[in-house]
Amino acid sequence: MLIRYKKNFEKIAMGLLSFMPSEKDLKKLQSTIRQYETEKDWLLYLWKEGEDVIGLIGIVIDSEEIHVRHISVNPSFRCQGIGKRMLNGIEEMYAEKTVVASDETSSFFEKCHEEQVDPF
Ligand code: COA
Repeated sequence: MLIRYKKNFEKIAMGLLSFMPSEKDLKKLQSTIRQYETEKDWLLYLWKEGEDVIGLIGIVIDSEEIHVRHISVNPSFRCQGIGKRMLNGIEEMYAEKTVVASDETSSFFEKCHEEQVDPF
């Protein structure tokens, strides 16, 4: 399930964020986590299964749209549908707004919204 980021999850959140290609530099990573902690329109959600935090999705809210800025899943848990479930969770939570990708998340976003083509 998706839960809101809290400061006591800082280390695990930074570890997950660091899988984003744009967050490899430690200074950039620290500045990004600070933005999520301080800017009111920047919201970070974590995917928790039991006691384990295994995914992260970060959004920026404007008047009409929700921009998905970051999305990341622990490599040990990839390809089990968690990324897609996090995206769906945000779309359900903010159903009154349009959820859009940022440059950094667009390829996975598009993959999740590919039309299911019936082979028959
Ligand atoms: N662009 C497009 N598709 C991607 C992708 C990417 N960057 N990364 C993984 N996928 C595809 C997988 O190949 C897989 O495809 P398949 O079902 O046809 O085999 C599918 O997404 C898996 O979906 P799902 O299980 O819901 O996603 P996940 O839980 O494995 O998480 C990411 C997907 C992208 C969050 C995860 O791979 C990750 O943390 N990547 C590193 C961080 C990153 O680059 N984030 C930005 C992505 S644009």
